[in-house]
Amino acid sequence: MSQTNAIEVAVLGGGQMGAHVIRHLADSPLVSAITVFDRSPEQLEQWKQRSDVKTADSLKRILGDPRIKLVFIAASNDAHKDLTIAALEAGKSVMCEKPMATNLADAQAMVDAAERTNGFLQVGFELRYSHLYTTVKDWIERGLLGTVLNTHCFYCSSAWGRHDLWRASSKASGGMFGEKLSHYVDLTRWWIGDEVEEVYAVCAPNVISYYQVHDNFHCTYRFKKGAVSHLTFMMAPAATFKGDPLQNAVSQQAGDGHELRYMVYGEKGAAETHVFPRTIKRWEFGEDPYGQTSAWVQTETWNPEEDFAYFHNTHDQALDIVRRVVEGEPPKTSPRDALESMRLCFAAEISAAENRPVRLSELAHAPASVGK
Ligand SMILES: NC(=O)c1ccc[n+]([C@@H]2O[C@H](COP(=O)([O-])OP(=O)(O)OC[C@H]3O[C@@H](n4cnc5c(N)ncnc54)[C@H](O)[C@@H]3O)[C@@H](O)[C@H]2O)c1
Repeated sequence: MSQTNAIEVAVLGGGQMGAHVIRHLADSPLVSAITVFDRSPEQLEQWKQRSDVKTADSLKRILGDPRIKLVFIAASNDAHKDLTIAALEAGKSVMCEKPMATNLADAQAMVDAAERTNGFLQVGFELRYSHLYTTVKDWIERGLLGTVLNTHCFYCSSAWGRHDLWRASSKASGGMFGEKLSHYVDLTRWWIGDEVEEVYAVCAPNVISYYQVHDNFHCTYRFKKGAVSHLTFMMAPAATFKGDPLQNAVSQQAGDGHELRYMVYGEKGAAETHVFPRTIKRWEFGEDPYGQTSAWVQTETWNPEEDFAYFHNTHDQALDIVRRVVEGEPPKTSPRDALESMRLCFAAEISAAENRPVRLSELAHAPASVGK
């Protein structure tokens, strides 16, 4: 049941992510109607069969409809810039999925449009809503880890199949770093609370021959105040995920080569986030006659039904964005902040392409092509 101050919302791109967003928005009393637009007639036809959403045959109809106040952009990455700028210029508030765009100039143009129109633009870095990671942020803010000095993310996943190839096309996706890893550099910047000075990334030759983008990265970021972050990513080794409907997705991928583990070390303590065993741990450092000590002081876990809230919390993100727009609040994360995370992604791609460390200060534009 929607409230009297509820707004109409549109979803641009009715694929996998668009379907998630639509499901989440149905939980918001602040949404009175949802309209879907997809440029693919086949995709749109499927939405026309549903009674809980409206459909629009053209973007123009959405942009010209004064009842629609907010658009969620869940189209493929190469469409983000044009859709975002058109929506902002039509006076709509915008949530755009990560990565912002396929190159830095386009991402910059989106921020410029938000600032020029004084519009609302939030980018989909939902890990800032995920309990797994907000717990660590809370520990940092409470001073339990001290200044964060060192983080390491080890991420191992299974490959995308041949049906999903826009993601593996350097032109449509903008590179593996933005498409798959942008969440994890954004998270690290958020935890460390500082900006990166230099990045060095290297990639081994691909295992997955049909990708235009890298299927692996080893990347190190050096922050201005001295913290260092490392990200290791391998896409091929984990067992192929076929989506068993009888099993929860996280349970199904546990122990089969999938890995998503962060170690976060500060001056006073450490934290570990570990997706597949569903654990978050904390250690406190001290000193006694032995010397430096570390005590394991806290472990948290969660149930499979809570995976969404702990892991990729797009649900709370969608509802928070609607609330912010209705109540006239700014985005949780400013578009400039999101742009900085995107600069780190493109810096890593340049570093891998040119086989050299890249200082962020030299990064005016992303390379013309990103990939292997
Ligand atoms: N935040 C996350 O964790 C997360 C997870 C998955 C996907 N995503 C992002 O969501 C976006 C969509 O991914 P997906 O998995 O749903 O892909 P998908 O291929 O399932 O769906 C994309 C849809 O966008 C449509 N589309 C493309 N260009 C369009 C345009 N100009 N106007 C309207 N529709 C257009 C396509 O026809 C397709 O139906 C991507 O940017 C992706 O990176 C984010």
